[in-house]
Amino acid sequence: MIPSLLPTYARAPLAFERGEGSWLETTDGRRFLDLSSGIAVNALGHAHPALVAALTEQAGKLWHVSNLYEIPAQKALADRLVAATFADTAFFTNSGTEALELAVKMVRKYWYEKGDPERIEIVAFTGSFHGRSTAAIAAAGSEKMVKGFGPLMPGFTHIEFGDHEALRAAVTDRTAAVLIEPVQGEGGIRPVPDPCLKGLRDLCDETGALLVFDEVQCGMGRTGRLFAHEWAGIAPDIMMVAKGIGGGFPLGAVLASEAAAEGMTLGTHGSTYGGNPLGCAVGAKVMEIIDDPDFLAEVRRKAASLHQRLEGLVAVHPDVFEEVRGLGFMLGLKCRAPNTEVVKAGYDQHVLTVPAADNVVRLLPALTISDDDITEAIERLDAAASAVKGTGA
Ligand SMILES: Cc1ncc(COP(=O)(O)O)c(C=O)c1O
Repeated sequence: MIPSLLPTYARAPLAFERGEGSWLETTDGRRFLDLSSGIAVNALGHAHPALVAALTEQAGKLWHVSNLYEIPAQKALADRLVAATFADTAFFTNSGTEALELAVKMVRKYWYEKGDPERIEIVAFTGSFHGRSTAAIAAAGSEKMVKGFGPLMPGFTHIEFGDHEALRAAVTDRTAAVLIEPVQGEGGIRPVPDPCLKGLRDLCDETGALLVFDEVQCGMGRTGRLFAHEWAGIAPDIMMVAKGIGGGFPLGAVLASEAAAEGMTLGTHGSTYGGNPLGCAVGAKVMEIIDDPDFLAEVRRKAASLHQRLEGLVAVHPDVFEEVRGLGFMLGLKCRAPNTEVVKAGYDQHVLTVPAADNVVRLLPALTISDDDITEAIERLDAAASAVKGTGA
């Protein structure tokens, strides 16, 4: 008999009741060190006092009004995002998937308005992840995600991640856009090197293709800059944001340059909940805290410390781990043992990590994690690795 919850997730037998900072507590009182942050969502940890205050204050005033009316908090958050980034305009969504949907629509409408409606091909990459809607699975294109869900939305070409020649051949003056995660998350924490991102920007400029960055996982301070592409010193035309921007409240956004957003005129897009007062009250507070040079410098300092200590862990457990990779607090332990065994052994040590493709264990701690909790994390991961070694996995 099918369970009351559609069985699409293999859930760990853990039910959490409350959280504080980098710690979660189960319904039966066990405490876990959270290095997963709801897969890069709880950027400021659990129950951050400033976010709790922002949410409860707004909840006491107004939960929801339609986008038929002005929402001052939404406008304020858009102004802040525009001021902090390449973008001239923002549209708020409830998730990363919805951001992908709008990004694809925006690209198509851009070429339609330019009198070239056949120019719809978006070049994307193997190992990428953009969500689970029909457009998002077509954009990622992996067998695992699309099998059984055809016919797929047309208009996506997939290039092997890192294959520059194939990329140069694929991006022509018929290409509508290139869609890429500056750091692949689900694909196994694979950063796109800065020179490659720069080269991609040049290629898009040469051909006229729009450059779309998916910063749903790697954005909002995760890599130690507000957005990951800042490391490369270039900017996209369109960017998807979600996860961290709501700190745990469902919120996403598409940011775009004025030129890229040209086709999105009155009535061309909408959302019931996107940018509602609750989400924007929290999002504004998250931005206020993260978009601060001192905060981001602290993220970089602590992330460098974690990275270095993970290198030490790899050296101590060469039969379990192969390497550390990633940027800032978006880190991956490439495993020799099965990554799922490492994650499970972590549960026994009360530390939460996330498996990713390419046999990687992802570490996505709260950006606010303390130095003491980083030390604790290394100790627990060390014990987990020893246990995995002990089983000969
Ligand atoms: C890079 C990236 N894009 C898009 C998504 C989809 O976001 P959501 O699950 O909020 O729809 C995710 C989610 O993991 C993601 O990591």
